[in-house]
Amino acid sequence: MSNDYSALTSPSLLIHGCEMVSAMTNRNSVPTDGPVWTIVLAAGSGRRFGVTPKQYEFLGNDRVIDHSLAVSRAAADHVVVVLAPGQEREGAELVETGAADVAVTGGTERADSVRAALAVIAEDAAVIVVHDAARPLASGELHQAVVAAVHAGADAAIPAIPVTDTIKRIAHDQNGRSVVAETLDRSTLVAVQTPQAFRADILRDAHASSAGATDDAALVEAIGGTVIVIDGESTNIKITGPNDLAIAAILFDALG
Ligand code: CTP
Ligand code: MG
Repeated sequence: MSNDYSALTSPSLLIHGCEMVSAMTNRNSVPTDGPVWTIVLAAGSGRRFGVTPKQYEFLGNDRVIDHSLAVSRAAADHVVVVLAPGQEREGAELVETGAADVAVTGGTERADSVRAALAVIAEDAAVIVVHDAARPLASGELHQAVVAAVHAGADAAIPAIPVTDTIKRIAHDQNGRSVVAETLDRSTLVAVQTPQAFRADILRDAHASSAGATDDAALVEAIGGTVIVIDGESTNIKITGPNDLAIAAILFDALG
């Protein structure tokens, strides 16, 4: 396997580079220059956001999900959108308008939704990108950069930005109070975003061999894959709480 990441558009940091394990045999025989598929995850219930699912809120003239699909569509050969149960009509419309090639129903956990999408992705897919619909401001360049990193030899490539807050690990004392257990070294920490790109065979292996995680890259790390980190975008926020939509609207206007 090539460890030459010099073709990357951003300085990269190797965060995980273990030897291959048995779950990943033959992976080097699969070329990465074939079709790129992007999974746009929009099957969450947006519990922290509030009453309405955040992916259907408007940002400018289009909904959050429409922005995420449009940028994914421009950077990939095929797009699968994953929607919550009951959103079948919405899925049919997205396919009809060409916003997505396929719409599938997601599962309870984010990883279940990724697996639902993997089940409909063609066998000849070479690179699979996983993107949260809740990150409507990711640029096309960022999508291209993670795919380029996989083409350059990485098993997976993820965008991340430096952590600016001081991060502490906490524990609970016998009275149930939160107490600081440790202050972490911020210089070694990054906050991870989507889109994340994977060799298709490795993402399939990772999901076949593990239960769940909030991030697909963690599953690839668990099977010994090499996950490289490229520069993320500070504007690529995830809409999580109610304030985030207001912040995204300001960023959207600023980005033009
Ligand atoms: N997602 C999904 N299927 C799930 C859970 C999440 O497709 N079972 C998607 C969400 O729609 C979102 C992305 O994964 O685009 C990131 O998840 P998150 O920000 O946690 O969104 P929600 O799970 O919807 O929000 P919450 O955790 O607050 O309920
Ligand atoms: Mg969630």
